[in-house]
Parts: sequence; C-alpha cells; structure tokens
Amino acid sequence: MSIRKALVSMRKNGNSHSGRLFGDRRWLIPFFTSFLVFLILFSSATFGIFTSTYGGEQVPFDIVSYKRPENSNGYFVESDLKKWFNRSRYSELEPPRLAYLISGTKGDSQRMMRTLQAVYHPRNQYILHLDLEAPPRERLMLGVYVKSDSTFQEVGNVRVMAQSNLVTYKGPTMIACTLQAIAIMLRESLEWDWFINLSASDYPLVTQDDLLHVFTNLSRNLNFIEHTRLTGWKMNSRAKPIAIDPGLYLSKKSDLSLTTQRRSLPTSFKLFTGSAWIMLTRSFLEYCIMGWENLPRTILMYYTNFVSSPEGYFHTVICNTEEFQDTAIGHDLHYIAWDNPPRQHPISLTMKHFDKMVKSNAPFARKFARDDPVLDKIDKEILNRTSRFAPGAWCIGSSGNGSDPCSMRGNYSLFRPGPGAERLQELLQSLLSEDFRKKQCS
Ligand SMILES: *[C@@H]1O[C@H](CO)[C@@H](O)[C@H](O)[C@H]1NC(C)=O
Ligand SMILES: *[C@@H]1O[C@H](CO)[C@@H](O)[C@H](O)[C@H]1NC(C)=O
Ligand SMILES: *[C@@H]1O[C@H](CO)[C@@H](O)[C@H](O)[C@H]1NC(C)=O
Ligand SMILES: *[C@@H]1O[C@H](CO)[C@@H](O)[C@H](O)[C@H]1NC(C)=O
Ligand SMILES: *[C@@H]1O[C@H](CO)[C@@H](O)[C@H](O)[C@H]1NC(C)=O
Ligand SMILES: *[C@@H]1O[C@H](CO)[C@@H](O)[C@H](O)[C@H]1NC(C)=O
Repeated sequence: MSIRKALVSMRKNGNSHSGRLFGDRRWLIPFFTSFLVFLILFSSATFGIFTSTYGGEQVPFDIVSYKRPENSNGYFVESDLKKWFNRSRYSELEPPRLAYLISGTKGDSQRMMRTLQAVYHPRNQYILHLDLEAPPRERLMLGVYVKSDSTFQEVGNVRVMAQSNLVTYKGPTMIACTLQAIAIMLRESLEWDWFINLSASDYPLVTQDDLLHVFTNLSRNLNFIEHTRLTGWKMNSRAKPIAIDPGLYLSKKSDLSLTTQRRSLPTSFKLFTGSAWIMLTRSFLEYCIMGWENLPRTILMYYTNFVSSPEGYFHTVICNTEEFQDTAIGHDLHYIAWDNPPRQHPISLTMKHFDKMVKSNAPFARKFARDDPVLDKIDKEILNRTSRFAPGAWCIGSSGNGSDPCSMRGNYSLFRPGPGAERLQELLQSLLSEDFRKKQCS
C-alpha cells in the first residue's frame, strides 16, 4: 500500500518535474520566433527604405490579403451575410407563393375557417393561431376540422399552431406571436415569397388567382407596410410612456399597464409608425428573425415597453436598415374605414360600404362582424364562391349539381384572373409610381 502510494507520488513528481522542464524550455521557442520576426521586420524595413529610394516594389507583408484575395470587405463576416439581402430564393419566373397567418381569439374559429376558405390556394401556406383566451375545446375543434378536410390533408399546406400564446391587443406579445408563426414557416423551409397577416375579421376582395397573377410580375423584394415618421403628439404619447405587457408574465389576459415614469426618445434609430397589417418579403423577415445584425433584436427589445408596438416594430426596423429602406411601399393592402374623428377601433363594414370597398382596389378589407350579409355579397359577386373554396384555375372538377369543382385539383401554376386582377393592378400602378415612392421612410 505504502509502496504503491510512494510510486504514485513519484510518478506524479516525475510528471510535474518533466512538465516543469518542458515548460522551462518552452519559453525559448516563442522567444526565438519573436526574435526571428523582429529580424525579418527590421531587415525588411531597412530593405524597404533602400528599395523605395530606388523606386522598387515593396515587399507585400499583408498576411491576410495573401490568404483572401478579395477587397477589405472580405475580412468581416457581415459582408458575406449581406448577400442575403436581395437574394430571391425562388425563381422570379415562377408564380409567387404567399404565407398567411390567420389569428383569432375565443369564439373566432368559425370565422377563421371562413376567411381561410376564401383565401385558400394550394400554392400558398397557411398557419392558424387561436390565442390562449380560446378554450382548449375550440382549438381542438379547429385542429379536427383541418385534419378532416381532404384537400388540406392532401395538399398539406394548412397548419394549426398547437401552442397558443396569450396575446395582448397593442402589446409586444402580438409581435412575438407573429414572429413565432414566421419562424415556424422559415424553419420548415416552406416555399413562400411574402408573408401576410390576417385576423378572423378580415376578408379578401380579390381571388387568390387575381392576387398571384398580379404578383407574378412584381419584384419579390417589395414590402407592403404603411408607415410614417413618428412625430408630434403621437411621439409623446407613444414613445415616452413605459408600457408593460402583462401577457409576458401572467396567464390571464389583461390590458397594457403604464408606469408613471417616462423615458427619453431613442437617438440611435428613428421611430416610425403605421398600420399593423403587413405584407412582408421573405428576405426581410429572415433578416428580422435570424438577425445577423443586431438592429432587429435591439428594436424588438425597445418595443417591448412601447404602446402599440405592432404598429411600429417592422416599420422602424425596415426604415432604419439601408438595405431595405427602398423596398418599403407605404400601403397595407387593406380597406379599413374609420370614424371621423377616428376612434380606437375601425368601423365594422356592412352592405353600405360595399361599393367603396370595391372602388378602393384593395385586396383585403376589415373588419367584418361575424356572418355579416356583406360577406355573402362578396362571396357571390367578387369571389364567385359557390362551394367551399373561392374557385380558381386549379379547380378542375365539375361545378354542376352543386358539386365542389375544387375536389379535383389541376395545375397550381395556372390562374384565371378576373376583374379583381385589374383592380389590384391599378392599385399597384399607383403605389409603384415615382410620386408615391418618394415618400418612402421619410
Ligand atoms: C442588390 O440588388 C441591387 C439591384 O437590384 C444591386 O445593385 C445590389 O448590388 C445588390 N446588393 C447585394 C448586396 O447583392
Ligand atoms: C398581425 O395580425 C393581428 C391580427 O390578429 C394584428 O392585430 C397585429 O397587430 C398584426 N401585426 C403584427 C405586426 O403582429
Ligand atoms: C408580366 O410580364 C410579361 C412580360 O413582360 C407580360 O407578357 C405579362 O402580360 C405580364 N403579366 C402581368 C400580369 O402583368
Ligand atoms: C363565376 O363562375 C362561373 C361558373 O364557374 C363563371 O361562368 C363566371 O365567369 C365566373 N365569374 C367571375 C366573375 O369570375
Ligand atoms: C346531377 O345529379 C343527377 C342525379 O344525382 C345526375 O343524374 C346528373 O348526371 C348530375 N349532373 C351533373 C352535371 O353532374
Ligand atoms: C403547369 O402550368 C405551367 C404554366 O403554364 C407549366 O409551365 C407547367 O408545365 C404546368 N405543369 C404541369 C404539370 O402541367
């Protein structure tokens, strides 16, 4: 026992001894290396002076440029990432694909299904989110409904978010929920070019055939986001108070609360505000979610304590990013009617708004009361909807006898644009005009 102990301790000593010996010697190597480098530097400097006086070439001593022949941008990782900015992943020759988030709360599941069917097209992707206020039974029913629909099953482009979030109206939890839905769709690397945010009280005013047909020719890096600089009284009433969203730490829904303290205005970025309804490109959203620059994250954290953050987050990010500023088109693609003077919520649209709605050329409208008769009028006169889905060129079944033409699916890349396409084209023409685009982010 003691002999073994002694042996072990001897070995230990031996080890540490040899280690020290090695350590003692090791300083010699760096010493000689640095001496050598010094010598080379010194001689090259002297040599350099001599050669330069004789007009000769200097010895290239830039180790990095020897390894990387590109310009100085190549030293930093960001320049590689910048390539992502205007990369359009899917061929511009192919018609686009849209990704829809349709969200609702307690009692909204029927309306969500109706909106889903009105905007359904097999090319697109759909995500449904019922917030935590909805009872589990309702969420389950929504899931069962989607599961039991043969078209959704076969095409596989409708998902229901199993996790439901507590969402506060006007609070950052709303943005968190939207970002989560986007993250799911990026993570699943589903093919899509634009993301659209709808609620259960939204309804389309054009068919998907109209929308996809018109967007086929559009540059895939245009973001539709209504925005203005935050100034005047709005600046004081929105940017200075410190709002706390209880949805971040409570399990029951309640309103935003404000602290008595106020904060100063940010100086490292400018604040923008606008509509919470958006249609954003995949590249911009990848930038927001993946955030290889810290700006999207910084602004997200800033907006955690902001009043009405869904009306400012994306607007402030896009207008403070040089690469995306020029892509922001100031329109939310919605027809929304307000009281005069405007109240907190927009007017519920009815029959008497129908003509104005159509004349606005907007592809979507809000907000509608559940099963308002005007929705039937839209179904009949605008969407031509006789069965489940608003039909398009992809529906090749027979429509006689009240059967569903969309029970047989044809080519998803073919569209049958109607009058809605012309209206939308007209709207886009004015949005893309010089006059209109001059106002971007100013
Ligand atoms: C992005 O596209 C524009 C023209 O569309 C081009 O001028 C610019 O160099 C591109 N930027 C990058 C980082 O590729
Ligand atoms: C997304 O949609 C909801 C409607 O459910 C809306 O209230 C919200 O503000 C929208 N915008 C963002 C940026 O989340
Ligand atoms: C798209 O562009 C092509 C070629 O410029 C043109 O032939 C086609 O009619 C355009 N389609 C639409 C919907 O504007
Ligand atoms: C509506 O559908 C019918 C039958 O499918 C078709 O004949 C008609 O042209 C369509 N109308 C519009 C406006 O698309
Ligand atoms: C309509 O239904 C009747 C009876 O169910 C059937 O005899 C007829 O062939 C159907 N017509 C079409 C166009 O499907
Ligand atoms: C679908 O239509 C597009 C556009 O006309 C065409 O290029 C494609 O080959 C068609 N696909 C099939 C499977 O027929």
